[in-house]
Amino acid sequence: MATTTTTIQQTPVGSRKPSFKPIIEQIGAGVAKPKDTFDPKAHLNFKQPSKIHSMEEIGYSATTGVSPVAVSEPFQLFSQTAVERMRSEIVQPEVMEKCQFQSNIAASQLRGYAQKYAPFTYDAWNHPDTLAVVSKIAGVDLVPVFPYEIGHINFSVKSEEETASEIEAITRERKAFADDEGIAGCPWEDDKPVVGWHTDSYPFVCVLMLSDCTNMVGGETALVTGNNDIMKVRGPQMGCAVVLQGRYITHQALRALGAAERITSVTSFRPKSPFMRDETVLTSVRTVSDVSELYYDFGEYRLEILEARIQKQLKDIRDRRRANKKIDTKAFKAFLADQEAFLKHTNNEMVPEESLVMGHIQEVNMPTEGAPRAAKRARVE
Ligand SMILES: [Fe+2]
Repeated sequence: MATTTTTIQQTPVGSRKPSFKPIIEQIGAGVAKPKDTFDPKAHLNFKQPSKIHSMEEIGYSATTGVSPVAVSEPFQLFSQTAVERMRSEIVQPEVMEKCQFQSNIAASQLRGYAQKYAPFTYDAWNHPDTLAVVSKIAGVDLVPVFPYEIGHINFSVKSEEETASEIEAITRERKAFADDEGIAGCPWEDDKPVVGWHTDSYPFVCVLMLSDCTNMVGGETALVTGNNDIMKVRGPQMGCAVVLQGRYITHQALRALGAAERITSVTSFRPKSPFMRDETVLTSVRTVSDVSELYYDFGEYRLEILEARIQKQLKDIRDRRRANKKIDTKAFKAFLADQEAFLKHTNNEMVPEESLVMGHIQEVNMPTEGAPRAAKRARVE
């Protein structure tokens, strides 16, 4: 039996106009860069999520990933002012020009723009108060995996006509359902995903909504549970976020309809401690990146982790010797084997540039045939 969280927005479709102009209208229109810096007092607006689902609750062992937490319900993270600042950093001409990527599974993304062009966004995700909030929800101390993955932007921008016809179709289906069944509410859903079933490259992601979703239907994240059921988590509203242990849970983003634009900002995280296991890969990102920048960031953080581990091990063996204890050969060899595996993994992820097919991402970890169908609810025709 599928577990399904609330997925239907209660606001009547078409009842309110979005408070933001679709971002496409602002591109190249000379939107001023934000001048103020990130200030958690003004820009962080954290409200506890209604629920945080543990790995065990959704059928996985608590030790499957780097934390016992699987996914949060959407929660308010940033203020409207902070969202405005982040939006204005995206529409800068140099960002659109230099950081836009396309792939076989995504028409338009911005990647790697934060460190160079978006100081507000960069500071927002690196601020200790933001990290404390994200870490608390994730159940483990996290840091952004590296600068290139701060604020990855997924764009979906539609024309007014497309949006209007979607809203009309949704309204018609809702009305038909209410007339036929005499039940208020809407069973309407679209089961076509934005991106197919996949796991993320990095342990945790925080998906932040940068658009007004008042008229939006859909846009949930669907997860495959440990029992091969499908669970849906409601999509976040503007300024709200969802935290997901995406490296270990197969998931997909479902399509959203009825909104002129849908812009999400995805920031990836890893455990802060260099001593925790780290199974970061670059599978889903290396062909939609400035490979040199990505490999510099990846190489640097992998070497930093190795450096911290080696320093600790060096201190341990020196201390042991000074204390006139015999060497613990078994433990030392276990340390060396771990680091050999860590280095081999690092080397494997750095696929030579000449072997990459840029813009092509292979979908991975498809759930077993039939599983995704299990949660499909009947559509009213
Ligand atoms: Fe994902």
